[in-house]
Amino acid sequence: MIKVSTVVGDGADLRTDAVVVCFYEKKSGTTRVAGKVDRTLKRELSAPLKSEDLVGKPGDIHTCYLSRNSRIPRAILLGLGVREELKADTLRRAAGNVGRLARRRMLKRVCMILPPLRGKTGVEDAAEAVTEGFVLGAYRAPTWKKNTEQNTEKKSGLPSLSVLVKDAGTLRGSRAGVRLGLAVSKGAWLARDLVNRPGNDLSPKDLAAAARKVARSSGLSCKVMGKAELIRMGAGGILAVGGGSASPPCLIQIEHKGGGADIPTVCVVGKGITFDSGGISLKPSLNMDRMRYDMGGAAAVLGALMAAKALKLPLHVVGVIAAAENMPGSLAYRPGDVITLLDGTSVEVVNTDAEGRIILGDALAWALKARPDVIVDLATLTGACSVSLGSHALAMMTNDDTLASQMEAAGVESGERVWRLPLWKQYRTLVKSNVADLKNSGGREAGTIAAGIFLENFVDGHPWVHLDIAATAWSNVARDYRSKGATGVGVALLTRFMKRIHLE
Ligand code: BES
Ligand code: MN
Ligand code: ZN
Repeated sequence: MIKVSTVVGDGADLRTDAVVVCFYEKKSGTTRVAGKVDRTLKRELSAPLKSEDLVGKPGDIHTCYLSRNSRIPRAILLGLGVREELKADTLRRAAGNVGRLARRRMLKRVCMILPPLRGKTGVEDAAEAVTEGFVLGAYRAPTWKKNTEQNTEKKSGLPSLSVLVKDAGTLRGSRAGVRLGLAVSKGAWLARDLVNRPGNDLSPKDLAAAARKVARSSGLSCKVMGKAELIRMGAGGILAVGGGSASPPCLIQIEHKGGGADIPTVCVVGKGITFDSGGISLKPSLNMDRMRYDMGGAAAVLGALMAAKALKLPLHVVGVIAAAENMPGSLAYRPGDVITLLDGTSVEVVNTDAEGRIILGDALAWALKARPDVIVDLATLTGACSVSLGSHALAMMTNDDTLASQMEAAGVESGERVWRLPLWKQYRTLVKSNVADLKNSGGREAGTIAAGIFLENFVDGHPWVHLDIAATAWSNVARDYRSKGATGVGVALLTRFMKRIHLE
């Protein structure tokens, strides 16, 4: 894994492949170290900084090769926009571009002078943003080619970052920020690696194995309930959806028990469809290959549990993952079937492609057994989600206004912003069935809300937030700290959200 450390420095003995110097729009200054290095940098960078083509907008990044300091061959000039308006997310994105550059140029050691952010926790927030951005920017998706750098790559090939702070007074805050940034980015890194694996490489059983591995290496507890147990507990939804696949479905539970008495219990529930063909209601073949990312919610749950453990959050976090492969076949469930979920609710299946809400119905009902104070579920649930919000927001639905504002705040802090959609009772007709308690699809109208309304039936009034990540869990472009493919969305948001719960 990428190493990030904090260094207090006047930079006198700085030795690094590149030093990152941030600058602002309207030429309102640069980040500085004291002493000899600053003098060298000042002299060597004054000409490029004066040049017209260095504007200083967020996204600007330029490499300058230095000749007067043999210990620092390069400076990376990084634009941060208007100085007075600098926000953590701008910094996170900018640092993402540094991480990508470092990885591409195979720089071993990068040093970044920490720019100041306003506010009481400015140093911590800045260190967090820089760490998270850099690490995730340096992420590369695995490949399955015969002989490539990515396959054979040793961990030593990854760049490391030293965050340079001015004085010992800011050391504490910056260390805390680095710790949070590392916890989040390691979790998101894991989530991306899982989501990027193709369906034939990640079956429900493989997902369970990955959960066990995470649990073992980070000291979490984990249990996996296979087909026999699903039958015993009456998880008719997971069994129906997984029925058409030769890879049997399972329910995964992974737990972090923080220290302290009377700690709140949080359940995080994830959709783990390892491949969604649509089943008998088969999807069109265009872009069907993408449907390997239909376990993005499950991956976020695992990443968030890793982060909760690394940060020793004073919470009882129960991760619940419903894992299945949605395939057609002679054992597949059919349109028209009526099935019974874990809590006894009957569901008329009108479309086997609306499978996520069915497995989540079981998973949510199961999660209630842990008597949670808060439930959050994450799912790549509806295509309609990208129609309504595009890829710049997660769709949030909740039965609790306080949770809504906490999640909104966590969204702003993490850079994974959420936008709330209503769950008004008038929408309930969308999932009303003539023959069963619910039907699983309401057609094209209000698709994202219909799925949320369906899920609400399984939380029995408990405080709950549903996050639809269908539009955000996968990216077709590499930008800032996002790589092409899996984004790991949800890990940063959930971690920030869980931190807030413990502050209450
Ligand atoms: N996994 C899909 C949703 C999805 C679509 C995620 C595109 C990411 C990109 C989900 O299982 C699904 O197929 N939903 C249907 C629901 C419909 C049949 C009511 C959809 O959105 O079309
Ligand atoms: Mn589907
Ligand atoms: Zn799906």
